[in-house]
Amino acid sequence: MSFPTTRLRRLRRTEALRRMVRETRLSRDDLVLPLFVVEGRGVREPVASMPGVHRFSVDRVVEEAKEVAGLGIPAVILFGVPAVKDARGSGADEASGVVQRAVAAIKASVPDLVVATDVCLCEYTDHGHCGIVADGDVANDPTLERLAAAALSHARAGADVVAPSDMMDGRVAAIRRALDGAGCESVAILAYAAKFASAYYGPFRDAAESAPRFGDRRSYQMDPPNAREALREMQQDLDEGADALMVKPALHFLDVLARARSRFDVPLAAYHVSGEYAMVCAAAERGWIDGPRAMEESVLAIKRAGADLVLTYAAKDLAARLPA
Ligand code: PBG
Ligand code: ZN
Repeated sequence: MSFPTTRLRRLRRTEALRRMVRETRLSRDDLVLPLFVVEGRGVREPVASMPGVHRFSVDRVVEEAKEVAGLGIPAVILFGVPAVKDARGSGADEASGVVQRAVAAIKASVPDLVVATDVCLCEYTDHGHCGIVADGDVANDPTLERLAAAALSHARAGADVVAPSDMMDGRVAAIRRALDGAGCESVAILAYAAKFASAYYGPFRDAAESAPRFGDRRSYQMDPPNAREALREMQQDLDEGADALMVKPALHFLDVLARARSRFDVPLAAYHVSGEYAMVCAAAERGWIDGPRAMEESVLAIKRAGADLVLTYAAKDLAARLPA
């Protein structure tokens, strides 16, 4: 059937009709809010390049977590910004580190909120790379034990989910082994499986003070042109024991997400990253676009492409706008 018998506009006439035939619906249950935790007390400092995003000390991140839970958002993911950094990222697996204390404090006061942690070394190393540097490059295998130790320290602090974002080969297996060997077999792994070397991480690196001091991350993060290789990364992380897989960034990699959706029957997450968020904020500040609508359209696109979960700095604003 075609026009004039078929008129696709018939089901777009009113909001009630549009609601009835809507294929994708954003829900609060889809959202995960990233939170940055710094040393100190009473700290709630804005991140200049991410309007609406703050860095919190442990005491203040608990208040934020309560607010997040109150909005019906099921989960947060924590990033630590330590006071001291060194070559091996010693702060990453300290039982008294910022992330470890934040996890324990949040789980003690908002136990039902799912707490995930980002597992990487770049926030803790003085050179800003995601692993141990040897001969000017990031050495894969020596990094694995550092990542496993960091993940285990998060699990011991009470994390529900650990999320390795380093892109070393074999890190999921190393982390799974360390967790299972220490009685943490119930802690889930959300693998940043297809993480690309992207220009869109800039504002995050300001917030986390994690920009590399030399070179870039292209010898470990993926080359943006490669979609088939992304599926191999995802398969490999699944084989190593990942419970859920992530694509990052989200909007410029929706093809990867859609292909992953049709290939894998595991929960898929996508990270709507700092630069994707900041671009919308910047254009909205200039009055060039409608910020809240553009943000919702972005996150909706990510879900439509196949994500079950979206990590987004817009989670609170979106939750407040979505039906309860
Ligand atoms: C650390 C990490 C990064 C992000 C999440 N974990 C930055 C990077 O790889 O440099 C980026 C998140 C964002 O931009 O919002 N490995
Ligand atoms: Zn890193």
